[in-house]
Formats: sequence, C-alpha cells, structure tokens
Amino acid sequence: MNWLRLSRHFCMSPVMTDLTQPALPGSLPDKRQVAASFSRAATSYDSVAELQRAVGSELLGRLPEGLQPQRWLDLGSGTGYFSRMLAETYPQSEGIALDIAEGMLRHARPQGGAGHYIVGDAERLPLQAQSCQLLFSSLAVQWCADFAAVLREGHRVLQPGGVMAFASLCVGTLHELRESWRAVDGMVHVNRFRHLEDYQRLCANSGLHVLSLEARPHVLYYPDVRGLTHELKALGAHNLNPGRPGGLTGRARIMGLRQAYEGFRQPQGLPATYQVVYAVLHKPIA
Ligand SMILES: C[S@@+](CC[C@H](N)C(=O)[O-])C[C@H]1O[C@@H](n2cnc3c(N)ncnc32)[C@H](O)[C@@H]1O
Repeated sequence: MNWLRLSRHFCMSPVMTDLTQPALPGSLPDKRQVAASFSRAATSYDSVAELQRAVGSELLGRLPEGLQPQRWLDLGSGTGYFSRMLAETYPQSEGIALDIAEGMLRHARPQGGAGHYIVGDAERLPLQAQSCQLLFSSLAVQWCADFAAVLREGHRVLQPGGVMAFASLCVGTLHELRESWRAVDGMVHVNRFRHLEDYQRLCANSGLHVLSLEARPHVLYYPDVRGLTHELKALGAHNLNPGRPGGLTGRARIMGLRQAYEGFRQPQGLPATYQVVYAVLHKPIA
C-alpha cells in the first residue's frame, strides 16, 4: 500500500500514533483517555448518536458536487456510519477509516464501508503525502488540542485539487450544562471548545482555500439532566478535561445541578445547545 506511511495496516494496537503526548495544561484531555473513552463507548454510541448523524449528514451534503475521489479518508471515523455513507456516495473509490480509538475500529470493521481500518492520530497521520483526494471528518477534531497540526496534516495528505471537509464544535457548546455546574461548584465539568474565530484564523492560515466555514446551533431537548449526562457518557463524550473534579459526584451537588439547569427549561424540555462548525476547504492546484 503506497499510501501508508508505516508498514502495518489495520493495526490493532496504536503503534502508528504517539498516544503518550500529554494534554496541554488547562486545555484538552489526554489522548490516551480520549481513545479509551471512545473505545469503551463503541457499543453504545450508535443508539444515542442523533446529533452526530444529523451533523455528518449535513456535512456530506456540503461536499462539492462532481467530486470523484480515488481515495477518501474518514478522519475520526468512530463506528463507521459515515464511512458507509462515503462508500455509497463514491462506490468507485478506495476508503480509509482512521480513528484514535481501536475499540471503535473493531466495532466498525465488520459493518464494512471502508477498505482499510487504521488506528491513528489526526495530528500525525500515518499516510503518505498527497495520497487522498477527500478528507471527511465529522465531530472528531474538537478532541485535537493542536488543530493547526490537523490542518497541516490535511494539507500534506491531500492531493492538489483535493477537499477537506470537517464538522466540529466551538465555544457555546453545552453552555447550559457548563453554566449550571458553575453555579454549583465553579469547576470544569464540560469539555472545552475552541472559538469560532480560532477555526477561522487557523483555516485561513492553513494553505488550504476556505470554500465555506460557518457555525450553526443544534439544540437537543431532554426530559431531565440525567438523560443528557447519560447520553454524553454513552457517546464517550463526557467530560475528560484536565482539571475536572475527581471522585463521585455527591448527591447534594447533583441536586444543585438539577436545580440550576431547570432555569433553562423550555416547553420542549431541557435544552443542550451544540455550536457546530462546518467547513469545506480546498487544496489549490498550484
Ligand atoms: C463523536 S465521535 C464521531 C465519530 C464519527 N465521525 C461520527 O460522526 O459518528 C469522535 C471520534 O473521533 C475520534 N478521535 C478523537 N480524537 C482523535 C484523534 N486525535 N485522531 C483520530 N480520531 C480521533 C474518537 O475516537 C471518536 O471515535
């Protein structure tokens, strides 16, 4: 396989990536924790992935018409739902599903879609330069502390004329949960997100041409706080921040959280807002 940077393909242990990189102080979680959390969530993920389905479908709809990639990469492919959509959209193409969580790939592989399943890190792709014509990434890169590195890698592995499309989350996401927790104990209970302006600046400086970049809110409603926090856990997307409170969450604090969150209640239920960034970038030909 002349597109692979290292020799092992469908590597079942994460030798292709450096998971030892610590989290930046006060920023995003440790990659080993992210990988372990998503691996644990592989079997429950699909049952609660309503938002993820909606966002990935929206991103698919934003791909330029007439695109005919020889090879596509689903970056942070998770359970492979969108690898299967990409395979349907581009039946003549070769597909690569790549994820940092080995458990996700184990779950995805028997369901088909991609031809290759690789454990890897979006910040250090184990792929050759100019080996893909399409990079598709839905709701994965918000987990990457170094988004400039993701873009650099995207630029490197794309062929000139290729497209990188990603959906991610920015500041404002889960603000109701963040504010409710703040009212209880002032601690970090919600993953941190980059500002939209950071996405704009980093994309503008990436050497890729920005075809579109915008943030759109998606709001989900829950009957109670427990519904939301259980769903986040089933997705593997609960709080993994450095600085998160350790130990069990006490009864009094949970009661406080419920009370504070009630302040956001609407007729449809308790809202959880996701600020979703959609971007489509193009690698210039010369
Ligand atoms: C919310 S899931 C999205 C999965 C899939 N794209 C979807 O839309 O259903 C995020 C995925 O990104 C993966 N991920 C997180 N950080 C990553 C990284 N640095 N490199 C590659 N994958 C990563 C996680 O393991 C997880 O499977």
